[in-house]
Amino acid sequence: MKLSKTSTASSAPGKLLLFGEHAVVYGHPCIVTAVDQRLTARVTQTESGKLLLKTPDIEFETSLTTISTIKKHPKEVQFVLAAVVEFRNTYPEIEGLEIETKSAFSSKFGFGSSSAVTVAVLHALHVLYKKRVSKQMLFDMAYRCVLDVQGVGSGFDVASAIWGGTILYVMGGKKIEPIKTDVLPITVAYTGVKVETAPLINQVSELKKQYPTLIEHLFNEVERVVELAKKAIEKQDWQMLGVLMNLNQGILESLGVSSKVIHQTSDLLKENGVLGAKLSGAGGGDCVVAVYDPSKQSIQTSKTISVALQAPGVRTEVI
Ligand code: PMV
Repeated sequence: MKLSKTSTASSAPGKLLLFGEHAVVYGHPCIVTAVDQRLTARVTQTESGKLLLKTPDIEFETSLTTISTIKKHPKEVQFVLAAVVEFRNTYPEIEGLEIETKSAFSSKFGFGSSSAVTVAVLHALHVLYKKRVSKQMLFDMAYRCVLDVQGVGSGFDVASAIWGGTILYVMGGKKIEPIKTDVLPITVAYTGVKVETAPLINQVSELKKQYPTLIEHLFNEVERVVELAKKAIEKQDWQMLGVLMNLNQGILESLGVSSKVIHQTSDLLKENGVLGAKLSGAGGGDCVVAVYDPSKQSIQTSKTISVALQAPGVRTEVI
């Protein structure tokens, strides 16, 4: 195959879940925003029959014919390998590849480096091999990769990496609706504790098995909160959005996924005047998000991290 360009790069944003975590795994909507810290993948075509992968954590080489057994390879490279396998299933003509990934964010914040790297690699491969791909097709491919490697997950992070901005999302990409607002006065604080998502998803699943009606009832309440939060964002009613954040946090508390560090971080933000706060993501730790009044001073605490929200989705980068 003749290629006019042998190297290209794509970047995808990280994400923050604003409303609806856990319930989204059971078909209810959630609201997610993309953060301006991006993961970049540079892909170069070679004729070596090999895949050479350079990440900030690991350098790894394997034969392209043996990568399909993804789980036997190191954890750090599994999402990239899954993306290459997914692309090769449709376009088997790849002879050799070099992939280099760089991240503007630390994986400890829970900004979704796995989904961002999967999306960035798949996007860059389509550009390199001049294959057209719609956002929905890219979503289906990347979501399959994430499920292959991780086993569980609603795919909200994959959708956010592709569409960017702030979206209302329903599992499997059944609904992906951009929520329009020019401002989103939400501050982000890191609890200092990194958590694994899968055990918390399993914990909620166990609770749901024990109390199916009760938990479904709570998830229906979350859905109502998400619908109202969408309206509050569109109307720029930040007081209401703050109340809804506190309500969503209350439900997450009752699901047992909040923690001491989350309470401490929320309390710190509330002492500094935020209108409402909640955990973001699976729970246990990671980040806390909080709404503030944009007509007053923005919130600065020792735990606040500086990120801009509503970042653009996956895109080609000039190299
Ligand atoms: O911990 P994070 O940021 O990966 O978020 C997990 C959110 C869940 O709803 C618990 C799981 C999911 O895939 O939707």
